[in-house]
Amino acid sequence: MNTISQSMNPTLDLKEARTEHDVHPLIKQRFSPRAFSREALTDKELHTLFEAASWAPSSMNEQPWRFRFAHRGSASFESLRATFSAGNQPWAPNAAAIIAISARTHHERNGAPNATWQFDAGLAVGNLLLQATSMGLHGHILGGFDHDSAIDLLGVDKEKEAIIGLLVLGRLGAAESLPEPYLTRERTPRSRKPVNEIASGI
Ligand SMILES: Cc1cc2nc3c(=O)[nH]c(=O)nc-3n(C[C@H](O)[C@H](O)[C@H](O)COP(=O)(O)O)c2cc1C
Repeated sequence: MNTISQSMNPTLDLKEARTEHDVHPLIKQRFSPRAFSREALTDKELHTLFEAASWAPSSMNEQPWRFRFAHRGSASFESLRATFSAGNQPWAPNAAAIIAISARTHHERNGAPNATWQFDAGLAVGNLLLQATSMGLHGHILGGFDHDSAIDLLGVDKEKEAIIGLLVLGRLGAAESLPEPYLTRERTPRSRKPVNEIASGI
């Protein structure tokens, strides 16, 4: 549940999806914020998120995903933060934690390439984000970071594993804490293509 201060944060209402249909509140309330409070997360909160992720479906139940996390204030947080692209630098460091999302690219049982590792890992991250929303937490995925630096930093074996993205995570902060152009983005309602543009009967 949201804390009292978070439930009073006007960004939550502004960012809630205005849907054509009766979509579940958790899905409507998830969004990718840029303003985070500097409140820490507990390991228990993070482990709850990872367990939620682990219950995602995956091809042949291979569960190829892997999550490595760092709390703000740690040396590994600062090292990961240094890999962020210029556009992500000004806002993302306020998050409570950074999660590196990766996946095994080959099947455990026979070493053959796994064609669905990205699909599987994406499903797991979807679970994680909705679980976070249910706990009053928000995550923002970053594709904008230096992959080679992150691979070196995390000691990833490129032959077997690939980093998909970084996820910055925490409790919502005040939009006013952001510099432009991020402040305007934080105050802009979210939008989506209409359902009839993405789905059709055949
Ligand atoms: C694979 C991926 C990479 C992304 N990379 C970035 C990024 O580098 N910087 C950023 O600000 N947002 C990034 N995003 C967040 C998207 O911009 C955001 O999800 C999208 O605009 C929809 O907004 P919403 O999540 O609030 O609904 C990324 C999202 C995904 C799924």
